[in-house]
Parts: sequence; C-alpha cells; structure tokens
Amino acid sequence: MPWSQLWLLGMLPTAAFAAAAQRLGPDTGYAKAQCLDGSPGLYYFSHGSGDGIKKFFIFHQGGGWCGSDTSCLERSKGALGSTKSDAEQMDFEALGNLKFSRDPTTNPLMYNWNHAYLRYCDGGYYSGQRDEPKMIQQSSIFYRGRYITEALFSDLTKKFGFANTTDVVISGCSAGAMRVFAHLDALRSFIPGSAKVVGLADSGYYMDVNMFTPLKRYVVTEQNATGLLNQECLKTFEGQEEKCLVGSVIAGYLKTPIFAFQSRFDSDQRSCEMGPLCRLSTSCVKAYAGNLSQSLEKTLQHPHGYFLDSCVRHCSFDNLAPKDAKGIYPLQAFATWYGGGQANYSQEFMYPCPDCCNAGLELTI
Ligand SMILES: *[C@@H]1O[C@H](CO)[C@@H](O)[C@H](O)[C@H]1NC(C)=O
Ligand SMILES: *[C@@H]1O[C@H](CO)[C@@H](O)[C@H](O)[C@H]1NC(C)=O
Ligand SMILES: *[C@@H]1O[C@H](CO)[C@@H](O)[C@H](O)[C@H]1NC(C)=O
Ligand SMILES: *[C@@H]1O[C@H](CO)[C@@H](O)[C@H](O)[C@H]1NC(C)=O
Repeated sequence: MPWSQLWLLGMLPTAAFAAAAQRLGPDTGYAKAQCLDGSPGLYYFSHGSGDGIKKFFIFHQGGGWCGSDTSCLERSKGALGSTKSDAEQMDFEALGNLKFSRDPTTNPLMYNWNHAYLRYCDGGYYSGQRDEPKMIQQSSIFYRGRYITEALFSDLTKKFGFANTTDVVISGCSAGAMRVFAHLDALRSFIPGSAKVVGLADSGYYMDVNMFTPLKRYVVTEQNATGLLNQECLKTFEGQEEKCLVGSVIAGYLKTPIFAFQSRFDSDQRSCEMGPLCRLSTSCVKAYAGNLSQSLEKTLQHPHGYFLDSCVRHCSFDNLAPKDAKGIYPLQAFATWYGGGQANYSQEFMYPCPDCCNAGLELTI
C-alpha cells in the first residue's frame, strides 16, 4: 500500500481537523466580498493545536484567471467563479497536498497550525477592485477579489484570534502562487506587525514571455486590480502593469521573505509559456528550464529561499514530492529555511526525469 494511503488511514479518526466553510459575503457583514456571480467569498478553516494555535497557514486555491468578458461570464457559472455549490465542510486530507498534512514528519513546520483554504472565485488573483459590477450579456459580473482578501483577514481576526498571531505563512499553488508573489508585501500590511510572515509559493515562478504575460492585461484594466501590486514595479512598468503579476518579474521587488517551491519542467508552464514546437522539443524544454533556473537562483537570494526540482509537475501532491541531492523533501527544506537554516535546495536532473517525481513514496512514517 502506498504510504499516502497509510497516511490517510492514520488520519481517519482525527475528525477534529475537519475544515468548516466560513462565508464572507454581504450577508455576513462583508459588503463587497463577492465571487464573479455575486455569491459570497468563502474559506475553509481547520483549527490548530498545541504550540500551533496562534500560527496560521493561509492557502490560496489556484486555477488560471479570466481574461475577457465572455470568459469571465462563463467562469461565473462554475466553481472558479461561484461558491453557491460549496459544501459546509472540506476534507483537507483529500486534497492530497502535503502542506495541509497534520503529520509532523511530513509537514514539520505547519502540522499543528491553523489551516485556512481560501476559495478562488473572483477570476483575478483575489485582487479585483471594480466597485460596480460589469454587465455582460445581461448578467452582473463582480470583480471584487480585493474585498474577499480584506474580508478574509477581518474574519480570521473576528473568529480565530488572528490579532494575536505570531507566525503566518501565505501560500498557494499556480494562480494562488502568482497571487503570493504579486501581493505578498501588500498582504503583510493586513497582518499584525509583530508576527513573522513569509510566502510559500508552489509552482508560481512563471517567466515573463509574450505568450503569457499580456493575457493578464484584462485583469489590470477591467478588474481594476492594481491596488495590491508593488508600487515600485508599477512605476517601472507603467502601461504594462500585468508584468507585476508575474513571479520572475515581481520576485526582485519583494521585501517579505518568500520560499519558492518550483519545478524547472513545470507541466503548466510547458503548455502556456512555450510554443507548440518548443514544448515537444527536449532541447527547447531544457533551454527554458535553464532560463528559469538562472532567473530564480539570481532573484531569490537572501532573505528568500527555494526548492528547485526536476519533477514534471504542477503543484505538489503527496505522490509527487521530489527530494534534493541530500534526500531532503520540500516541506523539510521549507521548515529549515523558516528556522534560519539553509535557503536553497535543488534536485539537479535533466529533462526528462521520470524518477524525479514520486520520490515521496519512500517517505517513512
Ligand atoms: C479602482 O481601484 C482603485 C484602488 O486601486 C480605487 O481607488 C478606485 O475607486 C477603483 N475604481 C473603480 C472604477 O472601481
Ligand atoms: C490575545 O491574547 C491575550 C493574552 O493571551 C488575550 O487576553 C486576548 O483575548 C487575545 N485576543 C484575541 C483576539 O484572541
Ligand atoms: C531563454 O532566454 C533567452 C534569452 O533571454 C531567450 O532568447 C530564449 O528564447 C529563451 N529560451 C526559452 C526556450 O525560453
Ligand atoms: C545557496 O546557499 C548558500 C548558503 O546556504 C550560499 O552560499 C549560496 O550562495 C546560495 N546559492 C544561491 C544560488 O543562492
């Protein structure tokens, strides 16, 4: 039996960790915290324990974005644009994401922290700030991720003692990780100044390429989503503000420490940042990976850190955990960096590398 299943069995009796839905919309006092379709912003929350009760792991769900009127209208009808079909409970173990693990071996830093999972339902990296809804084919579509962001922090304060927090990890994967890169310094200001705050961005270090970056323009103009972006970056890229959403661009401006967990051969980047010829060519994929590695290693110097791997993956699931040359797993590396230790970790293998993934199967519990 794979260790992940053993781990799941081990978790079954701990119902105390079941995550309950926390709604944020107008009905709960957050006037503008709405998804694309007007339904309430929402997060799931699971309580910490022991010395983790004042510590918070805040995870942002990923899932692309919408870049046109019609795609935002379409998106408003599904789970990435609406919470109307959300359940009252979420089983975090079922996500298969080790960052939510309650096992101290697997998740040494955050296993007993409070865990919050913010639903992505605004189509614009949780940052849209368009005050009036946009009428698209007779439907009112709301671009209000910024208000969901504010409501999240207010609600954590109101219900879960966030005013006394000592440690906060702001995390996410894919679009959720782009959000962490782009907004981390702005999010810092929503958190008590005495707390230690870092970012943990999984699969969000996208490169600034023409196939990708300009597609975010709609988020900037129609969603009015510049309020949480880095001011210095905005000044540098006036008229191309969408560049400040891209990990490889924004990383150089970040003051709040961030730890990137990133594959050189990210499967999503292969489809959205490489042309059809490049993505099928081993040497071109390697060239892209070389560019990414060079950029990331140069930009994410102290106080930042990274785990750069060669597993063809996008986001981390328990059966994909790679390990570095010394046998260290990403969340062990992250915990060491968080505690002031080694900051950079690398799994140095060339593409393709089938053995680079699921090294996690050897993890013992
Ligand atoms: C756009 O966002 C800014 C803050 O970044 C806000 O001051 C302004 O009112 C917003 N404009 C509209 C039209 O919603
Ligand atoms: C913060 O901690 C203090 C002292 O432990 C306690 O009195 C207070 O109620 C706490 N506040 C919140 C919002 O939990
Ligand atoms: C790598 O970077 C160089 C220099 O910026 C660029 O010309 C080249 O197209 C990049 N290659 C890939 C595959 O992204
Ligand atoms: C990696 O970290 C070591 C110290 O832990 C440092 O000497 C080295 O310069 C770092 N390398 C990069 C590429 O950041």
